Amino acid sequence: MSLPSHHPFSIEYTANPHPTFERAHGGDDFIEVPEMQGLLVHGYEAVRALCDHPSVSRNPMDAGFGDAAEMAKRAERWPTLESAALQMIEANENSNSSLMRDLLAPDFRPGMIRKMDETVHEVVEEVCAPFRSERALDVVKTVQEVPLRVISRLLGIDDATQDANLFLSSAPDYFRGINPVASDEDRDKAEVAAKTMYEVLARTVENRRANPQTDMVSQVIEIANQRGDVSPDVLVRVLVVLVAAGTDTTRLSTTLAVKTLLSHPQEMEALREDRSKLKNAVMECLRFESPTKYLMRASMEDFELDGREIPRGRLILLSLMGAGWDPTVYPEPERFDVDRDLRGSLNFGFGSGYCLGVHLARLQVGTLLDFILDHLPSNARVIEDGITWDPGNLSLREITALPIEMP
Ligand code: HEM
Repeated sequence: MSLPSHHPFSIEYTANPHPTFERAHGGDDFIEVPEMQGLLVHGYEAVRALCDHPSVSRNPMDAGFGDAAEMAKRAERWPTLESAALQMIEANENSNSSLMRDLLAPDFRPGMIRKMDETVHEVVEEVCAPFRSERALDVVKTVQEVPLRVISRLLGIDDATQDANLFLSSAPDYFRGINPVASDEDRDKAEVAAKTMYEVLARTVENRRANPQTDMVSQVIEIANQRGDVSPDVLVRVLVVLVAAGTDTTRLSTTLAVKTLLSHPQEMEALREDRSKLKNAVMECLRFESPTKYLMRASMEDFELDGREIPRGRLILLSLMGAGWDPTVYPEPERFDVDRDLRGSLNFGFGSGYCLGVHLARLQVGTLLDFILDHLPSNARVIEDGITWDPGNLSLREITALPIEMP
């Protein structure tokens, strides 16, 4: 069955959502998707308001996504996977509560920021070496290990150990299986992967309890000890949420940023000459091609937003990329402009659930672009007809191949 072009799972929307943006920004926002009881929202003001609104929940199950019997069946077949999913939902629902934010605050400590900087530079140099030596490559395959290796090293999983191999090899299966519309087969694989990841992280926590170091796990344990109310199991689950929230988003952001840069050779040359614009360029890349397809929310009661009635029990899908292409806020959104005023950007969400890894995220995208600018020749180009997308992800714009050549 072919899906309408605005449908979240259509290939058109995933690869090229601009016709839907034009429709929404032309006055037809809040597009209905009846089979999902869904409302697609693309206007900047509405997206911002609904990110963190008292009448909406951050748990899509509140809109009837997944009934209790189905959930029980799933929990029986995929217990580790489902408990991880629940932890993520709890973390999302309680983002105002201080647990996640307290535990993950090390992100903002000066010592950790220095460590992040060193680690990200090391990993980009290692993983992206093929950009230096090859004449053609797939960007997706080449950069995909960057965020996983970065987070694994920051957490303190020693690279030289079997645990690092287990962590790196199981994570991709795990991420594939946590997609709400993953197949049963993918979930089976993800269950095995989730168990492995839990075991590796549990061993790391145990080890750092006995032998604290300067890594993230040691810092999280220190904060947990100060709070006195965090069991080792909850601690491990928070770390899994951290890995899940930070890996795929960064993997897709870096890939899409390379695509945007190579498709704008003049801007790329200007940036090559003046790296002081790099920080803003990162945010412009995220606006231009967002890794996020939709943030999910559910309406908990009938309410009104800007003169529009929103009924209870709707799955509300907020397009951050749509908001970034709203011409009333970002004039001529189709222009990729690294000097653009991006204050108020929604790239990392808004309000109480604002991204906890924003520093690390910007650092990774910026370091990768800096590396590309150092090593990619001006005639490098994207092979447009080799680009492929996987439309079956509701939260992320999953690009699966981005071949480039560097003649
Ligand atoms: C460029 C890459 C990234 C993008 C575009 C991104 C984007 C976002 C967005 C839009 C949200 C808000 C979700 C919502 O309101 O429903 C979010 C939340 C979050 N992000 Fe990121 N993120 C990125 C990288 C990271 C990294 C590297 C980490 C950590 C390692 C991270 C950790 C988190 C966490 C823990 C939350 C949940 C916060 C909460 O619910 O309180 N993110 N991110």
